[in-house]
Amino acid sequence: MSTSFTWSLTFALVFVSGVWAATYTVSDTYTGQDFLNSFTVQNIPDPTNGRVNYVDAATAKNDNLTFASATNFIARADFTTILDPNGPGRNSVRLLSNKQYGLGSVLVANLNHMPEGCGTWPAFWTVGDQGNNWPTTGEIDIIEGVNNVGTNQGTLHTSPDCSMPASRTETGTALQSDCDTAVNGNAGCGVSFTDARSFGPTFNSNGGGWYAMELTDDFVKIWFWARGTSVPSDVSGGSSTIDTDNWGTPVAYFPNTSCSISSHFGPQNIIINLTFCGDWAGAVYSSSGCPSTCVDYVNNNPADFENAYFDFLSLKAYT
Ligand SMILES: *[C@@H]1O[C@H](CO)[C@@H](O)[C@H](O)[C@H]1NC(C)=O
Ligand SMILES: *[C@@H]1O[C@H](CO)[C@@H](O)[C@H](O)[C@H]1NC(C)=O
Ligand SMILES: *[C@@H]1O[C@H](CO)[C@@H](O)[C@H](O)[C@H]1NC(C)=O
Repeated sequence: MSTSFTWSLTFALVFVSGVWAATYTVSDTYTGQDFLNSFTVQNIPDPTNGRVNYVDAATAKNDNLTFASATNFIARADFTTILDPNGPGRNSVRLLSNKQYGLGSVLVANLNHMPEGCGTWPAFWTVGDQGNNWPTTGEIDIIEGVNNVGTNQGTLHTSPDCSMPASRTETGTALQSDCDTAVNGNAGCGVSFTDARSFGPTFNSNGGGWYAMELTDDFVKIWFWARGTSVPSDVSGGSSTIDTDNWGTPVAYFPNTSCSISSHFGPQNIIINLTFCGDWAGAVYSSSGCPSTCVDYVNNNPADFENAYFDFLSLKAYT
């Protein structure tokens, strides 16, 4: 094919689709200590009523709840202390990225492990404006689930007038269509993943994998690739440029059909947190096949939380 013909064809395709190809360049790579240098460890109360005590950065480091090596970053809950039932919850960490990523960005996380255990409610998610004025600038839950059960759930939480069409191109299973936090107790518009390796003990025993989220004017997409499966080479290779057009059908697709993405989502901060019980894990605890009551179990069985940790190999942000 001649150069000019290739150029014309490229131009024609770009012109017809009305958008440029979905290529992005890396803007930040977080590995090991970068998570501690570029995130804030937040010593705040849990807004979701969890049996948790989010410690400050110094305590987290001293108690080894955060740990960085040259290649890995670990964030975990305490697994040695029996709790006073009248005292604070189990020590854990909540990290908030100092930087924000807006429309036209992609996050790719490579994890070996996520927190597991009855009572656990781990999350890797983004929120506009550090969570201030929530939900005006939106929330995107990339990894979330409770009590070791089921698969991962990807969810948007927004202000009113944002809903998702029933039929859309995604491999996951759509749950509620309305993303409005005021509807149905803030369930949000979730998509349940089909791959058992996307969450909890099965994710961990398979060696983890990659999660990616693309935020544009036109949509939010979430992908997951389990370790050892067919992974796009720019993802597995940690390339400095990526092309999301080559990544195939996402697990969760949130198009702008009945939701203006730009008016419901502002620049997003990334949050990594691990809570216990509370509004979700506590509410479904007894139907999750877990022993005792959630709070009792979390108080009295520290050793069962030895595997309640995140192990990140890297987190990359592309714009
Ligand atoms: C932890 O993450 C969940 C997941 O989305 C969120 O609902 C909850 O508010 C978070 N807790 C804190 C303290 O941020
Ligand atoms: C701190 O945690 C890391 C990662 O889990 C572990 O390798 C290391 O041995 C721990 N250090 C101490 C002093 O327990
Ligand atoms: C929705 O996305 C399409 C392209 O996929 C774009 O043409 C359109 O302007 C977008 N609509 C809104 C309200 O942003």
